[in-house]
Amino acid sequence: MCGIVGYVGGQSAQDVVVAGLKRLEYRGYDSAGVAVLADGGLAAAKKAGKLVNLEKELGDRPRPARRSRVGPTPGGAAPPPPPPPTPPPPPPGRPRAGGPGWAHRGGATRGAPPDANAHPHLDNAGRVAVVHNGIIENFAALRRELTGRGHALESETDTEVVAHLLAEAFSAGGDLADAMRQVCQRLEGAFTLVAVHADQPDVVVGARRNSPLVVGVGQDEWFLASDVAAFIAHTRAAIELGQDQVVELSREGVTVTGFDGAPADVREYHVDWDASAAEKGGYASFMLKEIADQPQAVADTLLGRVDGEGSLTLDEVRIPDAELREVDKVVIVACGTAFHAGMIAKYAIEHWTRLPCETELASEFRYRDPILDQRTLVIAISQSGETMDTLMALRHAREQGAKVLAICNTNGSTIPRESDAVLYTHAGPEVAVASTKAFLTQLVACYLVALYLGQLRGTKWGDEIRTVVRQLSAISAEVESVLATMEPVRALARSLAHHDTVLFLGRHVGYPVALEGALKLKELAYMHAEGFAAGELKHGPIALIEEGLPVVVIVPSPRGRSVLHDKIVSNIQEIRARGALTVVVAEEGDEAVVPYADHLITVPATPTLLQPLVATVPLQVFACELATARGNEVDQPRNLAKSVTVE
Ligand code: M6R
Repeated sequence: MCGIVGYVGGQSAQDVVVAGLKRLEYRGYDSAGVAVLADGGLAAAKKAGKLVNLEKELGDRPRPARRSRVGPTPGGAAPPPPPPPTPPPPPPGRPRAGGPGWAHRGGATRGAPPDANAHPHLDNAGRVAVVHNGIIENFAALRRELTGRGHALESETDTEVVAHLLAEAFSAGGDLADAMRQVCQRLEGAFTLVAVHADQPDVVVGARRNSPLVVGVGQDEWFLASDVAAFIAHTRAAIELGQDQVVELSREGVTVTGFDGAPADVREYHVDWDASAAEKGGYASFMLKEIADQPQAVADTLLGRVDGEGSLTLDEVRIPDAELREVDKVVIVACGTAFHAGMIAKYAIEHWTRLPCETELASEFRYRDPILDQRTLVIAISQSGETMDTLMALRHAREQGAKVLAICNTNGSTIPRESDAVLYTHAGPEVAVASTKAFLTQLVACYLVALYLGQLRGTKWGDEIRTVVRQLSAISAEVESVLATMEPVRALARSLAHHDTVLFLGRHVGYPVALEGALKLKELAYMHAEGFAAGELKHGPIALIEEGLPVVVIVPSPRGRSVLHDKIVSNIQEIRARGALTVVVAEEGDEAVVPYADHLITVPATPTLLQPLVATVPLQVFACELATARGNEVDQPRNLAKSVTVE
């Protein structure tokens, strides 16, 4: 996953796009590049590695675009068209203010990330420059075709193929947006493309298929970006781009069409958070800030959702209540942390609605033959709204007639756009790769959906719903109180930083919490961390227990289902007897666990089903601190991207 920023307007394009890239640093970080139209030429620079490498390269002026010779004609091939004339080199120097441009940050889409594979990619004449997120699946065939026509491709990337195709199409018609439409019709796969052409100054053209791209609308200035965070410092007005659309930014404004050239309807929306929300706000990392944001995020997600009757307000609903009443099965699809939220939701949905509910990894769901029909409600959970596996799962579900409800944190993203209804989580921007506040707000949204279904089906009375809503409303303060007592957790994390393995155990809703605790530790601390259902211990995992092995155990409330609580206390005894170092997360006042806890982390009393909202928080803090103690950069863990827009 990568970040793209494009700009047309009165400011220095280079300054705007490089600042925008900084805000997208969390999306990917193998390389960065920039191209600006300056004084009739194209100035481009690119560097492998962190953005700082590109900034060093740029100094205070980008390099002129590089020119390549046209390669030899392969024997037997038809003679190639004459190569476009090589224009005079653009003058070096800072691009004039307002020259349009864009920048790209991220992984080379194919091949390793040396400088040559970084974006932008140029045509042979150095007149067109393009950046790309995603994967072009038919690039090998297109590349053969281009080399057959005499094009010399210099990198291993699929993106360079697009630069050459665009140059050809532009030379025929002289219009970059037209050229982009023609080229997009030939591409297979998922892509966001942004291009400029030196012969059409003041124009930036973008295109998207299955990969994010949003337009920012300022005062006589326009932005294109993979994420609104890139331009939020300039404007909070944004336009969603749909699938298979091409957008042209020019001094005259924004034009959006389909790949076929048909004008598209555009929907402008207001981003409900501001630039400060996308800053670290004095914290050492975005992750720490986002952990601290959780009380507010939970409160914001509940705000205005439920009326006095307990009725839920969805943001965009195209599913009538009558149809929701007819639902006879719920299937939740999601990936990673969102999947763990879905696993917890299953317990609430089954308990409150008496509907059968399955939670499935989106990446697996679409490759089986799930039994779905018009009476199935599929819930797709995604922070980014762009996760390709989840998107494909929801398409698969809709093709079979199921209704899809999205739970999403990103207004205007693809998953809510393609769903029948959406409930937005109001977590604000989540920048750190490891999901924290998005998880808690996804849980809140899932509980609300479960209550709503319960009300529609008559399996929950109004007063019961109001009780749960009251309990949910109290969670924000409870998370706050957990956060206030985290110093011993941080000290514990530091003391365990030298271990190779940490295990996590939980039962019932504590089991997905254990999985989430392990995922956080894996992705941040790069250590072996595994979560197990405590009931599975005797079926294998207990063999892993050895002297001094840290095992974190999530204990359900002793006031809830005693059978759950008592069973897990026995599990703690079993592992401790075998030498495990027990780290017990339990409700305040739970005396039964005290004798078996080498370290006790207490959380406020909540109903059993809501406990994940408080029990997950210490595990986030634990992973963040332990990773920091190991010298890892927590916001950008190695090999990971914030949003996985390829399969
Ligand atoms: O944007 P999404 O919620 O669809 O992302 C799903 C996962 O990729 C994401 O939760 C991932 O597992 C996080 N890095 C976990 O911290």
